[in-house]
Amino acid sequence: RPALSMHAMDGLVLEDVPLNAIADALGTPTWVMSAGTLRTRYRHLAAAFRATGQAVSIHFAVKANDHLAVLRVLAAEGAGADVVSGGELRRAMAAGIPAGRIVFSGVGKTVVEMQAALRVGIAQINVESAEELELLSIVAQAEGLEAPVALRINPDVDAGTHAKITTGLATNKFGIPYNRAVELYAHAASLPGIRPVGLAMHIGSQIVRMQPYRTAYARLAALVHAIRARGLKVDVLDCGGGLGISYRDETEGAPEALAAAIHTELGGLDTHLAIEPGRWLAGPAGVLLSTVILRKRGYDGMPPFLVLDAAMNDLMRPSLYDAWHGIIPLAAATAAAKEEQVHVVGPVCESGDTFGHDRTLPHMEAGARVALLDCGAYGMVMSSTYNARPLAAQVMVDGSRWAVIRERQTVEELWAADSIPQWVNQTLL
Ligand code: LLP
Repeated sequence: RPALSMHAMDGLVLEDVPLNAIADALGTPTWVMSAGTLRTRYRHLAAAFRATGQAVSIHFAVKANDHLAVLRVLAAEGAGADVVSGGELRRAMAAGIPAGRIVFSGVGKTVVEMQAALRVGIAQINVESAEELELLSIVAQAEGLEAPVALRINPDVDAGTHAKITTGLATNKFGIPYNRAVELYAHAASLPGIRPVGLAMHIGSQIVRMQPYRTAYARLAALVHAIRARGLKVDVLDCGGGLGISYRDETEGAPEALAAAIHTELGGLDTHLAIEPGRWLAGPAGVLLSTVILRKRGYDGMPPFLVLDAAMNDLMRPSLYDAWHGIIPLAAATAAAKEEQVHVVGPVCESGDTFGHDRTLPHMEAGARVALLDCGAYGMVMSSTYNARPLAAQVMVDGSRWAVIRERQTVEELWAADSIPQWVNQTLL
């Protein structure tokens, strides 16, 4: 993680900012995003595709991190957006990403969302079913507009990733069954209000091996030929996201390898190409700062518990997917601190509120701070206020500068939208 370094005096430093300075100023838990890392990774990804000699549009998957500042940093690099709701569409546009660079994915778009997307002139709607196609045709006609449509195909390929984040299997709810794709594409071409522009595919997330991609893209190429054989045009291929990162000891998915897979399987088809990466761009750019509330002794012979002030409501991935996130102290190691095995947990009243079992860490007492690593994607966006825990503060670091990009939520804000019906009130004596 090149943007993180350990200094004898300052402890853990992100870009040029000591993380302790942020924790001193704002308290914890606090999310910190590195703008420099976002730019470096975006440029790396773009360069890998450029090297294949083919133009590829990069649509950042907004679901991974929808903060306006994050979107703006990526937009300034030339990124478009992949959105899955009317809310994400609005966020992307509020951050300055033009509608002409936004694609709309998702298995259940509402009429209101379709209208919004068409009215702003969205670049492409990825349609996931025959049923949705019919609905979109009706909505587009009523709006007097034409919907640029890519059909998202379910290739029935195993991405070899966690069951909860695999999307390209026949048993998954996503995409159009492969064997019905050509028929539906031909049907789409005949539907009023619909302009089929191409095909889309997204087989899953945190993919670190290239074979599933290759298999899926080969199937996509076969479809292009079959559709063209019917005299129809296929101009756009949206290759999805999913490129994985190294949380623990996995080898990070290489942009060069993905670019090569896409180039080999789809490069000769004379289409415009697009990808929808989320995690690979944003994941390694973020950390979550937390403080040890207390160090609790366990049963005899068992590791102690380090109870953090961050919890599953902040970072949900460990409890939801058994995901592994690195945990490192903010303080520089001292010769005196012996390493020990600990369970790192949050204070929420569920056993699933655990960040790591049997972690080896230098001895830490209450008040010590840690950073949870690789939290820039699917971190803050998945937070909740479970246990009436306000949403954590957010910070962006850029070189030696840092700024609060979202204030810590106040406790009062938690119930600001609640109301007590009059008749409930009256029963209170
Ligand atoms: N495109 C589509 C249509 C998607 O559904 C997704 C992610 C992406 C692109 C971006 O995938 P990425 O490049 O980030 O892998 N919450 C889970 C991940 C869910 C991913 C859902 N779809 C996690 O924390 O691991």
